[in-house]
Amino acid sequence: MELDLRTVMRHFATGVGVVSSWTEDPGEPGGRRHDAVTVNSLIPVSYDPPLVALSLRHGSAFLADLLTAGFWGVSILAADGADTARTLARPREHRAEALRTLPASPGPHTGALLLDGPGWMECALADSFTVGDHLMVIGTVLATGVRAPQNPLVFLHGALTPATAA
Ligand SMILES: Cc1cc2nc3c(=O)[nH]c(=O)nc-3n(C[C@H](O)[C@H](O)[C@H](O)COP(=O)(O)O)c2cc1C
Repeated sequence: MELDLRTVMRHFATGVGVVSSWTEDPGEPGGRRHDAVTVNSLIPVSYDPPLVALSLRHGSAFLADLLTAGFWGVSILAADGADTARTLARPREHRAEALRTLPASPGPHTGALLLDGPGWMECALADSFTVGDHLMVIGTVLATGVRAPQNPLVFLHGALTPATAA
């Protein structure tokens, strides 16, 4: 049997989010170098206690930052977030440039950047384990917030597609 996981998963629609973290850097404003990447691997794994999982590629520069920091922010992207999602999937230098102008504010519990969008959360590292070529990162949810409901951004058939919720 031919096994092509990437091809079959193209038919599985997911939401799209941005994960952010920061590490200390005296050369940056405020002594913090922020970074953020686009993800679609966010899953809630427990509600009591509140835990979420993210699957991040081994070798990812962002993953190294997240593990050093031990915390992160997650912002759920709305239908108008496709450009943001594309930009934050690019190499770090492009992400850093975008983060200087994207509307975002530091989360109250972690200082990780939270972007505009229908919802956000802040997480602290609870556990991690290798799953093949990725690291499954488990986070305790420290805080959550929701804004006005908006149409979602969906990743399907390899494309970032604005969807209609209703
Ligand atoms: C829609 C979409 C979803 C993505 N989801 C993930 C993900 O769940 N895990 C991951 O490691 N990278 C994911 N990426 C890739 C990251 O956004 C980013 O390209 C990668 O972290 C860059 O590698 P670096 O951290 O080494 O610079 C996704 C990209 C896109 C466009």
